[in-house]
Amino acid sequence: MKVSVIGTGYVGLVSGACLAAQGHRVTCVDIDPHKIAQINQGVPPIHEEGLEQLLKQSIGQDLHATTDLRQAVLDSELTLIAVGTPFDGERIDLSYIETAARQIGSALADKQSYHVVVVKSTVVPGTTDTKVLPILEAASGKPAGVDFGVGMNPEFLREGSAIADFMAPDRIVLGGIDAKTQSRLAMLYEGFENVDVLATNCRTAEMIKYTANSLLATMISFANEIGNLCAVTEDVDVKEVMQGVHLDKRLSPILADGQRIKPGFNNYLEAGCGFGGSCFPKDVQALAAHGQLAGQSMPLLQSVIEINEHQPLQMLKLLEKHFPTLTELRISVLGFAFKPGTDDIRESPTLPVVRKLHKRGARLTGFDPIASDAASLVLDRDTIVFESDLNRALAGADVVMLFTHWPVFDRLAELLAETNTQPLVIDGRRMLDPDKFSRYEGIGR
Ligand code: UGA
Repeated sequence: MKVSVIGTGYVGLVSGACLAAQGHRVTCVDIDPHKIAQINQGVPPIHEEGLEQLLKQSIGQDLHATTDLRQAVLDSELTLIAVGTPFDGERIDLSYIETAARQIGSALADKQSYHVVVVKSTVVPGTTDTKVLPILEAASGKPAGVDFGVGMNPEFLREGSAIADFMAPDRIVLGGIDAKTQSRLAMLYEGFENVDVLATNCRTAEMIKYTANSLLATMISFANEIGNLCAVTEDVDVKEVMQGVHLDKRLSPILADGQRIKPGFNNYLEAGCGFGGSCFPKDVQALAAHGQLAGQSMPLLQSVIEINEHQPLQMLKLLEKHFPTLTELRISVLGFAFKPGTDDIRESPTLPVVRKLHKRGARLTGFDPIASDAASLVLDRDTIVFESDLNRALAGADVVMLFTHWPVFDRLAELLAETNTQPLVIDGRRMLDPDKFSRYEGIGR
């Protein structure tokens, strides 16, 4: 099928590259000519495992990039809207979606054949039907359901494994205003076998996406709240507590041979220094705000957000147990990405802690395998010195604070042994073996 994708952020570009690899003819559209030039040279503007290889494989063949939205729509049968929906604290900003819809609609005014417009961006329930559809109708001068279809097809991609998630989806949700839209949308995923497909209306599709993310975020905040209680309860470690909880056979089913299945789902039931990223914080807040607007208060989701906003401060608490004053204390901060496998630092729990440590006079050195550049752009210059070498970042540290579960930090004990230093280690992800350190603190312990 001929597909146009509006927006080349991580959702748009990953979707475009993967659909091209599936044999569709894809045109990616963005307003940023620099990004378009990069993509056309096979250079991904974002860091995502496997993306460069996919671009190199398809660019100039089944995959093209352009700033010309109109032509891309005219030349395709289906358009995916994958532009950003930033959250301003009260609601998601739909201006990029609205602009894209207006431009798509005006191209549809000149198009003879049937076309389907699909929202892929995460939007609150009702957006596709009550905002996007009327804009498309007004701009095209044509009625939806006759000349064109309107759909909503949420993505369930994790940053860092987005390509693998797209290529081996756990579910495909096809929201559409009618059966014709749904069946055109289904053609997009014909190459995917053995996957559950749920055809529904647009509002339900929108709600599924928010509910899925809110559930995972709720599990994390739940584990963190329990962890914080364990931290003040003598001789109780949240890690062991959660091991015991995971052994519920409803969470890790026992096979006939006695082995257990360990679902990835349980990874969200672990205590740590809080969740970040461009999705969980924003999506939970947007859903809670949507509830308030609809007259339905969402106390559980409000608490999920509140717990998460306070969670990074547990790291400070652990530090203060050992050092009541932080002036001139040399702290090595490890991990700025909101999770391993990405250079994305949005809503990373590291940032608020680093700012507080700096205010209190600590001398900070930072290291992240790939996110240091991004972090140095948002932190004031005198706040922290970034090192490109982990050993150098550790040299002379009184304290090491670990925020991101990067595999390279698994070797921390060995690295410290080599330098012959014994700093206090504060483990924000509970990834280290406490017995390997002379002074160790971990969240929930
Ligand atoms: C998340 C969802 O997992 C995807 O299914 C969804 O499609 C995506 O949002 C989206 O809406 O686009 P992502 O934000 O990439 O994906 O990251 P996750 O791997 O789910 O991690 C989210 C955050 O939770 C990270 O900050 C991670 O460190 C944190 N986390 C995870 C914890 O703090 N504790 C845990 O036990 C597990």
